[in-house]
Amino acid sequence: MSGIFNSSSGSQFATEEIGGLLNPARKQKIWAVGGGKGGVGKSLVTANLSICLSLMGYKVVSIDLDLGGANLHTCLGIPIPDLTMSDYLNKKVTSINDLLTPTPINNLFVISGAQDDMGIANLKQTHKNKILSALTDLDTDFILLDLGAGTSANTLDFFMAADQGIITTLPEPTSIENSYRFIKSVYHRKLRTMEEFLELGPTIDQGLNAKISQNHTPADFISKVIQNNPSLGNKLRSEINKLNPKLIINQIRTQADIDIGFSMKIICKKYFGINLDYVGYLDYDATVWQSVKRRKPLLMEFPNSVLVNNFDRIVHRLLNIN
Ligand SMILES: Nc1ncnc2c1ncn2[C@@H]1O[C@H](COP(=O)(O)OP(=O)(O)OP(=O)(O)O)[C@@H](O)[C@H]1O
Ligand SMILES: [Mg+2]
Repeated sequence: MSGIFNSSSGSQFATEEIGGLLNPARKQKIWAVGGGKGGVGKSLVTANLSICLSLMGYKVVSIDLDLGGANLHTCLGIPIPDLTMSDYLNKKVTSINDLLTPTPINNLFVISGAQDDMGIANLKQTHKNKILSALTDLDTDFILLDLGAGTSANTLDFFMAADQGIITTLPEPTSIENSYRFIKSVYHRKLRTMEEFLELGPTIDQGLNAKISQNHTPADFISKVIQNNPSLGNKLRSEINKLNPKLIINQIRTQADIDIGFSMKIICKKYFGINLDYVGYLDYDATVWQSVKRRKPLLMEFPNSVLVNNFDRIVHRLLNIN
């Protein structure tokens, strides 16, 4: 059997199990913010989308799953909370509701990430499942997850379990490359979630390790499977079609920076067959680092910042209100 199925992250069917842990009829909408690279604005986006939603009257819980590098609380203007996700996983508290810490914004609570050296990549499968099934215990309209950097299997599983998976990137080659790597990892993780793929294990492995080129794209891979086994190939394609990640370009300075989002959308369709939904951009602006220095939430501290309009447009896109 192929090596990918012996992954230390646990079962190859993890996302199917996760689907079962999160009742589709649940009332809470889950948005997860990820992306391959560090320092691209994931915590900024999580914090300020949470603020936008709470200002619109929704109840929101913002959860820091960047377990090793938790700092979402600072973006929301509060000191490190006494209780963190570790206390729930280590059974110091019995309910995830015990972790809810109020913020200066009405309707908005934060659950802080671990302050010890527990990283999301090292999270045991039982702990991941415990967090996921606890999300439905939260009496809230929205749950926003700050996933931190990287493409660990756990990060990908949280990203795929969410109703909206949001990728944040900078308009720089290194960051864009990391975003494609993140999308490629999501793509392969998704393929591995179907039992029928066991027979395709080695082929998926080859696809994962291959360098993407004009003549060798993940989308071609599915076309080849369709040729050889139409029923299986079409199932694969339908699973991939369900992936509809959102993209935010952060720290834009020029029109060319804004346009990168449209190019990435086209490339994702061509190479992965994935519909990447470009939901908006955020200007590069001094108010961002000034608010971080003051440890205050950006949108509250600088209500005239250009970022207010940026976030407003993005949140309306994500809510499907135009
Ligand atoms: N639009 C922006 N304009 C100016 N500075 C920005 C902007 N976005 C982010 N920054 C700067 O980049 C820093 C990193 O942002 P943030 O902490 O949100 O990134 P991150 O992706 O969560 O990082 P990590 O991977 O370390 O968790 C901010 O503290 C801020 O100084
Ligand atoms: Mg962060």
